Amino acid sequence: MSPAPVRRKLHTPPVPASPFPYHPGSLLSVNDLSLDELNHVLARATALEKQDPLTRDRILAKRRVALLFYEASTRTRTSFELAAKALGADTALVSNLSSSIEKGESLKDTGLNLRALGAEAIILRSNSSGAAWLLEESTRLPVLNAGDGMHEHPTQALLDLRTILAHLRGGTTKVNEKTLAGVTVTITGDILHSRVARSNALLLPRLGAEVVLCGPKELLPEVAASEGPDSRGGVTIERDFEAALKRSQVVMMLRIQAERLAGLQLDLEEYKAGYQLTGERLARLAPKAIVMHPGPIIRGLEITSGVADGPQSAILEQVTHGLAIRMAVIERALNATALKSAPTSVRTSSARPAKPASRKGARA
Ligand code: MLT
Repeated sequence: MSPAPVRRKLHTPPVPASPFPYHPGSLLSVNDLSLDELNHVLARATALEKQDPLTRDRILAKRRVALLFYEASTRTRTSFELAAKALGADTALVSNLSSSIEKGESLKDTGLNLRALGAEAIILRSNSSGAAWLLEESTRLPVLNAGDGMHEHPTQALLDLRTILAHLRGGTTKVNEKTLAGVTVTITGDILHSRVARSNALLLPRLGAEVVLCGPKELLPEVAASEGPDSRGGVTIERDFEAALKRSQVVMMLRIQAERLAGLQLDLEEYKAGYQLTGERLARLAPKAIVMHPGPIIRGLEITSGVADGPQSAILEQVTHGLAIRMAVIERALNATALKSAPTSVRTSSARPAKPASRKGARA
């Protein structure tokens, strides 16, 4: 009789819990914010926006914030800088075009040097997906992700949410899982390369919105339908732009990201015929929808000038909401309680410690 086969128990190693964010003030992904924290950010954005500028600029007086921008930016950079200054912080801008980054200095070394200079938070834009996580791990400072490659752009999703709430929910700052029930947000264009689409697809369904992603298959792979926050769904794909428009209360247009196309050829006339938001389409299919765009807009390609400047456009309002949201997340970054076990290698004597949560405006 042959011996009974030995049955080996197969063990699947447990997936380690993510250590990110290391710093409670960081905002790497929209997923870093619980519903309570989201409500806190929305409420602080409104309070800070209303506050007298002469008292507001004492909130973070002389605190130090570094802006590290490895990629071009107009709205995001300016609004982060103005937001930090509006709270009284000192800001230093480091851009890849005028710094040692040009000479090959790594992200980690740049971050450690900014920390040694007393930066208490770093706002990072990078063309590398995941860069904000690496910077946070290396410096253990609060890091605000101002867009990492094709991955996430959390403050854009927050300002988009604030814009939607202003138009459709009376500007409420208290949200829950049902706040956006019955709202369909169609995001159209170059979804494949868009960190804006991803952050919105992760955030808006948590509040009950249906996110419809729309575009041709070259710019919108099927797998994008799984971009939502969890198995409850909330994100679907619709290739027919007119069908998507018909069901939308919010239409968010995206540009084609020419700098990330990597050889992909598109027939632009065909693209416009299928996906351009024109005045005629909007009037016929979504006459009450609000039109959004994170910018930069490419007039005459994804959107016509008439629509961009028209009465349904909330594009410039989005920019204004960005300033309020960025004040709130900078305040959160600098007032969050201190570092989780920073590695000794990044504890430099010249680094200013994170301020305790007892400063004005700090959260419990
Ligand atoms: C971004 O930084 O992702 C922009 O706001 C959107 C774009 O570049 O098209």
